[in-house]
Amino acid sequence: MEAQTLLIGNWKLNHGKKSAQAFLQEVLPQVEKFSNVDLAIAPVSLHLDFLLTQTKNAKLRIGAQNLFYEDKGAYTGECSAPQLKELGASFAIIGHSERRKIFGETDEDVAKKTKACLEHGLMPVVCVGETLAERENQSHKERVAFQVSEVVKNLAQDAKLVFAYEPVWAIGTGKVAKLSDIEEMHELIKEKAQGRAFKILYGGSVNAQNIGEIAALSVVSGALVGGASLQSESFLSMVYELARAKE
Ligand code: PGA
Repeated sequence: MEAQTLLIGNWKLNHGKKSAQAFLQEVLPQVEKFSNVDLAIAPVSLHLDFLLTQTKNAKLRIGAQNLFYEDKGAYTGECSAPQLKELGASFAIIGHSERRKIFGETDEDVAKKTKACLEHGLMPVVCVGETLAERENQSHKERVAFQVSEVVKNLAQDAKLVFAYEPVWAIGTGKVAKLSDIEEMHELIKEKAQGRAFKILYGGSVNAQNIGEIAALSVVSGALVGGASLQSESFLSMVYELARAKE
């Protein structure tokens, strides 16, 4: 991931092999021309190998939506950082709010997973963000500062990771954070990461219509996108708008 700007499509529990292949057929011939943006997709882990094979030598990175922090052992249903690395994955999303909320992932789990990624050469994409209640009671800064600090506190000073600021109330809701709030929270994440934030993405209802103005903020290094990354047309429109905003 060398470019300054990054767009990651988080497919969540969507796309089978057939529809993923149709997506790639539309997207792969187009992506080479956007040299100032790194592009990535996180499919279900079941199809990681298939997508990695289909995208060999293409300008589209493939990564996982989650992983477990132990390398191996009796952990039914999990997959590990060394296994993902061996497969050819280049990054893993960690601590997405759906994992925190639905699967009970704690800040401690997130920190351990981040460490496992770094130890095995996978780029961690760590999601942080406040809930609506936290925003309403004005504890959003405290919450996000804590999430970031818990991740970086045991990492080497030269460790580099990607953070994604994803306000929970903005995910899949069509509600986007205000530009001034995005700016404020990205500055906070940068400060709390103490030099370890290689890139800070924004996520939460990003689409081709709003990505340009969000990415025009210099503190935003790109986006982590769910719904609007599923269809090739809207994915490509976002790539186009993002590349233009960062020209
Ligand atoms: P959304 O999801 O773009 O559908 O809001 C973002 C995310 O969950 O990362």
